Amino acid sequence: MSGRVVRPDRDGLRRAVELLRRDSVVAFPTETVYGLGAHAFSAAAVAEVYRLKNRPSWNPLIVHVPSVPAARSLAADWPAVADELAARFWPGPLTLVVRRAPHLGDVGRTAAGTIAIRIPAHEVALNLLKASGLPLAAPSANRSESVSPTTARHVVQSLPDVPLVLDGGPCAWGIESTVLDVTSSPLRLLRPGALGLRALRDAAGPIALPDHDFGDDAARSSPGMSRRHYAPRAAVVLARNAGDRTLTGPVGTLAYEGADGPNREVLSADPREYAADLYAALHRLDDAGVATIVVQEPPDTEDWLAIRDRLRRAAAAPVDHAHN
Ligand code: TXA
Ligand code: MG
Repeated sequence: MSGRVVRPDRDGLRRAVELLRRDSVVAFPTETVYGLGAHAFSAAAVAEVYRLKNRPSWNPLIVHVPSVPAARSLAADWPAVADELAARFWPGPLTLVVRRAPHLGDVGRTAAGTIAIRIPAHEVALNLLKASGLPLAAPSANRSESVSPTTARHVVQSLPDVPLVLDGGPCAWGIESTVLDVTSSPLRLLRPGALGLRALRDAAGPIALPDHDFGDDAARSSPGMSRRHYAPRAAVVLARNAGDRTLTGPVGTLAYEGADGPNREVLSADPREYAADLYAALHRLDDAGVATIVVQEPPDTEDWLAIRDRLRRAAAAPVDHAHN
């Protein structure tokens, strides 16, 4: 693999910190997916993230920090529920949207005056945060709209110009963090993700879900929830729609039952295990050269919420972002 993929040992971390201090970017593993890290409050560093990812400028970045006090220092207020959730789930795959501290300046400022923060549960990510001493903005380390990376190799495939990747092996969760807005009551789910709703409700009470289907309207409150996202190169078609379409071959299949076969990926029927392998399976089908992926949709239950969300977005037709 490329020389830019390095072990996260002392030397690898030193190189990563040097790049971050020079306002460059570094990809690193988290427990969810690989992130493309940059000094969160450096205009040059953040601009480089948007350029490399080809990310639309309206979509704000999550800031990663190593501790709860570091998180609080970025917030204008820190509600009691944020403390409870942080105590229960951090480090871990939960991103909290809070009101942004006024002293932070303009870089990364959102119209709503909020900031999204999390403490990642990965030793390499935490080592990098501590060694650099910087809050790290880190969106998933892939081109905008494409499948998030769960290995170092996926990062290099999607972002061939990335200066450095710390290789921490495959990500344990394999799906992005759950994004929760704690500025309102009831709390609002902005993006379903690795941390399930049941666990969140147990800790924090009722949670409002977006009105309908995380569609285009929801994109207003959570800018990153645009309709098409997480898409492989192949066209993704949900099985229930496959009959109405002329499918371009070769056709691959993504299922959760039955046996593996040529161009047929069968993932676990357990949602946590399914999520852990989903993006890798989409990458494998792309690498196999299929033109269409027909997806057996998992059950319509809350346990599958985040996965069904990603599959629907992967299946959405390409949109023209010129108006955004
Ligand atoms: O698991 C994860 O969250 C990964 C790893 C690397 O930490 N990161 C990630 O980042 O998925 P990204 O940029 O791909 O997704 C961040 C999501 C987007 O949907 C974005 O719109 C939303 O969080 N977001 C960021 N700041 C926000 C804010 N102030 N208010 C509402 N949504 C925000
Ligand atoms: Mg992403």
